[in-house]
Amino acid sequence: MADPAIRKRKTGKSSPSQKNEHLFTDSKRGKDGTTIKTVLAAVLVSAGVLLYMNYDTARSFVRTRLGKQSPGWDFEATRGGAVDFSADLPKRDAVVAAFKHAWLAYERDAMGDDEYHPIRKAGSNLTQAGGIGYTVVDSIDSMLLMGLEEEHARARKWVAEKMTFERDGNFNTFEVLLFTTIRVLGGLLSAYHLSGDHMYAERAQDLADRILPVFNTPTGLPLSMVNLKKREGIPDKDNHGLVSTAEVSTLQLEFKYLAMLADDDEYWRKAEKVMQVIKDARIATGLASIFLNPDDGKFAISPIRLGSRGDSYYEYLLKQYLQTNLTEPVYRDMYDDAMDAIHTHLMKTSEAEGLTYTAEILPERDQQGKIIWRVIPKQDHLVCFFGGSLMLGAVSTGTVGGTVSVPPRAEELTAQGKRDWLSGTELVRTCMATHNTATGLSPEIVHFRMAGDGIESKHDWYIKGARPGYAPYDARYILRPETVESLFIAFRLTGDPQYRAWGWDIFQAIEKHCRVESGGYASVLNVDELPVKYEDKMETFLMSETLKYLYLLFSDESVLPLNKYVFNTEAHPFPVFYPSLRTGFS
Ligand SMILES: *[C@@H]1O[C@H](CO)[C@@H](O)[C@H](O)[C@H]1NC(C)=O
Ligand SMILES: *[C@@H]1O[C@H](CO)[C@@H](O)[C@H](O)[C@H]1NC(C)=O
Repeated sequence: MADPAIRKRKTGKSSPSQKNEHLFTDSKRGKDGTTIKTVLAAVLVSAGVLLYMNYDTARSFVRTRLGKQSPGWDFEATRGGAVDFSADLPKRDAVVAAFKHAWLAYERDAMGDDEYHPIRKAGSNLTQAGGIGYTVVDSIDSMLLMGLEEEHARARKWVAEKMTFERDGNFNTFEVLLFTTIRVLGGLLSAYHLSGDHMYAERAQDLADRILPVFNTPTGLPLSMVNLKKREGIPDKDNHGLVSTAEVSTLQLEFKYLAMLADDDEYWRKAEKVMQVIKDARIATGLASIFLNPDDGKFAISPIRLGSRGDSYYEYLLKQYLQTNLTEPVYRDMYDDAMDAIHTHLMKTSEAEGLTYTAEILPERDQQGKIIWRVIPKQDHLVCFFGGSLMLGAVSTGTVGGTVSVPPRAEELTAQGKRDWLSGTELVRTCMATHNTATGLSPEIVHFRMAGDGIESKHDWYIKGARPGYAPYDARYILRPETVESLFIAFRLTGDPQYRAWGWDIFQAIEKHCRVESGGYASVLNVDELPVKYEDKMETFLMSETLKYLYLLFSDESVLPLNKYVFNTEAHPFPVFYPSLRTGFS
């Protein structure tokens, strides 16, 4: 399986499994008071959740295990003739034209810079030390998919000749490890897969080797920042040295695919070890707080949500199970556990319009200093990935026999499968409802009406913090992909043309309100105001995710089929493979 072009790493590969063993016993030992303290904290967290939410403790431990033995999943075998998946070429071409409008402006004004500002027609870098290819690498697999050969040739040349990770920068931007992994490492790996060009794989391995030292912590949880030149992990002082749950659990698809290509277990074990620590840190409800302590491997008392710093933890639980072709049941167990907990504690329905959404819960101290948990009816736009993810989970982990029709029939799904399918489709509907604004674009954060909240709103939801005549920063649309990502998955799993129609509505709203005539696309400051005011930034995920998912939505279903590919959280596709290693924990 290993790609001969990828070299074995020279660095002393001294028995990684022994090292892991050592780390594991260390972190379990509890040599000093800190461990005890945090155990107490974790107990408090769980007690708090249960007390506050007034749920039966026993119930939250019970997990239904229906359909546990399903042998793998497939839909092609049972696909009926009624569903029309043929490409919608005019709409697909319009998406390709939009991609070129974005790329050509970036290339003209900022080629090689990490970020792009289309109004002032200039780029910027994450650090003074110079760019590391964020935007270029993030865009390459979209070019390959869309057949943009000339653009790809120029981007490839830049990667081969100009890109370097010898950057002695203090990469202290928010979640830089996460973004470097999902954008640059993920982008290089999928570019390699789609093109077969070994240069991409070599650059990916160079980057991964520079990232590896971040895992050298007492528990193996990686630090949030990295100096790529010095090959050093740096703790995040802004968050008391804590690491975010989504960040540490959103590198496994990338490192495991690289491990497979390079036939090098070390990448695999480092990434897998994180999952073991998280599994051991489980709190009683099965929910995951957004921060972990890299010194003791425990959850820190912190908010619980499917939005920022939580989101891709849940996404990667499912996708790790899918990536290795359903051969690692531990991820299936963790995913089932998490979905049960989410449905018990976070899944809510709005009062009047019956919109399904996921709430957040925040820890607060009462007057005695005890932790209590407050439910906030707040949903980030980021959460809109979750509708499609639940539907994908339902047809892959929630089937009775392993195969499902398109769309799945009720008798093909287990009780959990039906539950997840239903809440997934409802969440997609809710995310579409939040596009019901002056621009047809959806804001960064919405709140939902609660009984007796005294809010005046046309709908069951409103932009967080909005008042008549005042638009908060959360009223922005920053070219985010999460809703169209779910629409793409929902279309592939149902063939329902409604999902294409919704995707086309969003695409047209982007064209109308975000497109900058001189080139590129900008963010919009208030989705509920016309004419729009721009924020001068074209996020790199426009080209890697938003336009890619729209392109796939209008392509026929042979392009990157969902039972043969997993998409990393930046929309870079990796092939499903059969692992040559056994999972190192259970
Ligand atoms: C970003 O970094 C690249 C590479 O070092 C450099 O050529 C470019 O000028 C930088 N851009 C800005 C806006 O500083
Ligand atoms: C995944 O498993 C199925 C059967 O369970 C098999 O048909 C398929 O070839 C496997 N795919 C890979 C990539 O190993």
